[in-house]
Amino acid sequence: MTTGGRPPALVLEGVSVARGGRTVWSHGTFTVRPGAVVGVIGPNGAGKTTLFQLALGLLAPSSGRIEVLGAPPRRGNRRIGYVPQNYTAALGEAIRCRDLVTLGLTGGRFGLRPTSAAERAQVDDALRRVGALDFAERRMSELSGGQQQRVAIAQAIVDDAELLLLDEPLANLDLRNQQEIVRLLGDLHRDRDVTIMVVAHDLNPLLPVLSDAVYLLDGHPHHDEIGEVVQEELLTHLYGTPVGVVRTAQGDLFTRAAWRDPVHQQENAREAGA
Ligand SMILES: Nc1ncnc2c1ncn2[C@@H]1O[C@H](COP(=O)(O)OP(=O)(O)OP(=O)(O)O)[C@@H](O)[C@H]1O
Ligand SMILES: [Mg+2]
Repeated sequence: MTTGGRPPALVLEGVSVARGGRTVWSHGTFTVRPGAVVGVIGPNGAGKTTLFQLALGLLAPSSGRIEVLGAPPRRGNRRIGYVPQNYTAALGEAIRCRDLVTLGLTGGRFGLRPTSAAERAQVDDALRRVGALDFAERRMSELSGGQQQRVAIAQAIVDDAELLLLDEPLANLDLRNQQEIVRLLGDLHRDRDVTIMVVAHDLNPLLPVLSDAVYLLDGHPHHDEIGEVVQEELLTHLYGTPVGVVRTAQGDLFTRAAWRDPVHQQENAREAGA
């Protein structure tokens, strides 16, 4: 199946995956169309990172068939840009931003090699697109979390990836930085029609850009349009705690924790009655 001449970004057919002798999830059957922006959601340990590792060819399924950008998964696929979970925190070394992005182009296995003028221009372009040109010469360890996340995304897109896999890129960011990263993802999607899959625990900051979601429920991955997934019953079941969904008069959609401290509730009721 192709869309506009391009194969689907990701196809799973009857996929199961096991780790440490235990099935993480099973019966994964869904297709991500090219150009989709997909939230990947589910509780801790449900297997979100595992899904990315399958797509990257880092892990083999125990059964079923996977296709990424029209071909079987393979390690080192340069058509996929990946920002692992906790990636920037794991960069203990004092690497310069520009060098980190350059590694996305030249491959990190043998360290930095001399680059051509064309490659340096490509690195500059990636840094510019994420708004990191101003601090390109600084070391990663000297940057804020939001700045680090931009540089990590620059590394993932520098080689013109067609599929971006971002594992919790908004973790530890304040509201403004979350929104700036989300805006950046929207730009990447609009300007280059990149397919984006993004793991997140809080859907709210991402809702303006998401078209679809993959959700891991009861040991199985499911895929649907975002509007079908942002439903109170589904999210409450998914997270095992009450989740409310609010639609504002402007049509904006929000999710919120719907649990209320009973003591507070009584106090509020008393005050409202007084
Ligand atoms: N290297 C590993 N070896 C064995 N089991 C693993 C390994 N990595 C993860 N697991 C197990 O696989 C399951 C899924 O893990 P995964 O990291 O994919 O979850 P996740 O949905 O990304 O969770 P989180 O929200 O905490 O990041 C968990 O039960 C975990 O313990
Ligand atoms: Mg994870």
